[in-house]
Amino acid sequence: MTKLLTADSNTIAEAAQIIRAGGLVAFPTETVYGLGANALDLNAVGKIFTAKGRPAADPLIVHLSGLDQITRLVRSVSPAAQTLAETFWPGPLTLILPKLPEVPDLVTSDLDTVAVRVPDHPVALALIQAAGLPIAAPSANRFGHTSPTTAQHVFHDLDGRIDLILDGGATSIGVESTVLDVSSNPPRILRPGGVTREMLESVIGPVTVLGQRKKPEKGLPSPGLLEKHYAPRAEMLLFSGDNARKTLAAYLTEHSAAGRKVGILAADEEAGELEKTGAVVYRLGPDLNSIARHIYAGMRWLDRQGVDLILCRDFGENGLGLAIRDRLTRAATKVIS
Ligand code: TXA
Ligand code: MG
Repeated sequence: MTKLLTADSNTIAEAAQIIRAGGLVAFPTETVYGLGANALDLNAVGKIFTAKGRPAADPLIVHLSGLDQITRLVRSVSPAAQTLAETFWPGPLTLILPKLPEVPDLVTSDLDTVAVRVPDHPVALALIQAAGLPIAAPSANRFGHTSPTTAQHVFHDLDGRIDLILDGGATSIGVESTVLDVSSNPPRILRPGGVTREMLESVIGPVTVLGQRKKPEKGLPSPGLLEKHYAPRAEMLLFSGDNARKTLAAYLTEHSAAGRKVGILAADEEAGELEKTGAVVYRLGPDLNSIARHIYAGMRWLDRQGVDLILCRDFGENGLGLAIRDRLTRAATKVIS
């Protein structure tokens, strides 16, 4: 049985004991809930992969309580990395840095780099401090599923597989941290996230963004071949390009007429019109901050309504739009442009 406890000084102390003893604790960060274990304990880290059903080839992020702790993990911090850490930590930026041998190879999937960040959440910081250890933590969901932004999402995915969930309420950013490779010149965003490209560029100048693996535009290939991640259970279609809203409306009409229960993830401005059609509409909110905060919860909610199909449009690439687009593209069965 997994304990689900409201985070306070007593339950954080209990969680820290579990981490020190080699157990697994899910905890809130400002982005999504993490599934934490002692990053320096090979056996404890192994339990993360088992609990999530995660392949060992997918390396983990190590969480610290402050930049001063970084010498426990990395060989060197470049001037650019130092500036970024000082500017954005604590916060949703993960830096890829050369690792020390003390970091188990399982954490880094045998790479000679380690992913590090300082989360901007009082519960996460208190837990790392109380444990006195760096905490390795991927998002606290079953592998391939939507990331959890509430303790209840974690419970749904991992009950019986982990020791404790600390409930610190819904997370504020809602999409994961930005993963930045600072060893390449210019630095390269491997995963867009809570710290936007514009924010990074205002501090260190131009950065590049790793291109996303393209999915076939036509037909439904075998699910095993998809770069499917962050995904709801229902089939999901993402509409992009200038005609996205129109095309979405046409698909809605067609699939509703065919008797399918259609769910839509919609910004507030378009939700009213879509609700009139009888579709199940989840309102993401008025702006990109709100859309990011609610995107995963929306996918989970539509799954619970038992919809056959989820429709969503692209929200552009400015600011958090890029991270939202990345997650929607991976969650979608198909992108229609
Ligand atoms: O916001 C977040 O980053 C959340 C919270 C819990 O901190 N964590 C998270 O972890 O999203 P996870 O495991 O779901 O994603 C880690 C990402 C993966 O895309 C992984 O490939 C990348 O970081 N990563 C980890 N170590 C790496 C390395 N050494 N080189 C390149 N990419 C790395
Ligand atoms: Mg994840």
